[in-house]
Amino acid sequence: MTSRHPHIVIAVDGPAAAGKGTLSRRLAEHYGLRHLDTGLTYRATAKALLDRGLPLDDEDVAAETARALDLSGLDRSVLSAHEIGEAASKVAVMPKVRRALVEAQREFARIEPGAVLDGRDIGTVVCPDALIKFYVTASPEVRARRRYQEIISQGGSAELPAILADLEKRDARDAGRADSPLKPAADALMIDTSDQGIEEAFETAMSIIEKALAAA
Ligand code: DC
Repeated sequence: MTSRHPHIVIAVDGPAAAGKGTLSRRLAEHYGLRHLDTGLTYRATAKALLDRGLPLDDEDVAAETARALDLSGLDRSVLSAHEIGEAASKVAVMPKVRRALVEAQREFARIEPGAVLDGRDIGTVVCPDALIKFYVTASPEVRARRRYQEIISQGGSAELPAILADLEKRDARDAGRADSPLKPAADALMIDTSDQGIEEAFETAMSIIEKALAAA
């Protein structure tokens, strides 16, 4: 399949904890594509600033930090902390930071044999010509419960109402910013994971991709 279609880019956008990361990894594995979780690029930029005691709201400093980022060394286990997600959402409002990271993300997407990129603005800004665009969503309550269970299963402690409030705050910041807000591309296909498991979402996504590949 990848020999008939040498370069495939799949864009997967959606709010936090909707299941887009798991879906993207599964799709990349299945189609032999590379995978980039673009949230990690914002998280790594934020962490680098925090580690050096630099401010999160100095656009030039943050953009310089973003430009120096090495995409090959991103590790979610180091970047998963709640404060890093919050800080990432703050640095992500700055256009110069976005420009630097989008450039690196596009570079990643250009490398053969293609890639699955997940984030907030992949279908709208980073890869508007992607072969397929998915917008993965779920109700805030379902997403908060998933996040809660993830934290508990890792031995952490959390309170569901606080997680829900945090998610809603972050959604509002991501969707409300002027530059590249979180929103579905006009040609995105919606996958709601509120009532379906990842396996079902994966099957839905695959049948859509198969059709698109057949028509390409
Ligand atoms: O998906 P995540 O929680 O790791 O993302 C962290 C933050 O990064 C998120 O709140 C918004 C920002 N982000 C973005 O603005 N654009 C992307 N393509 C990916 C993430």
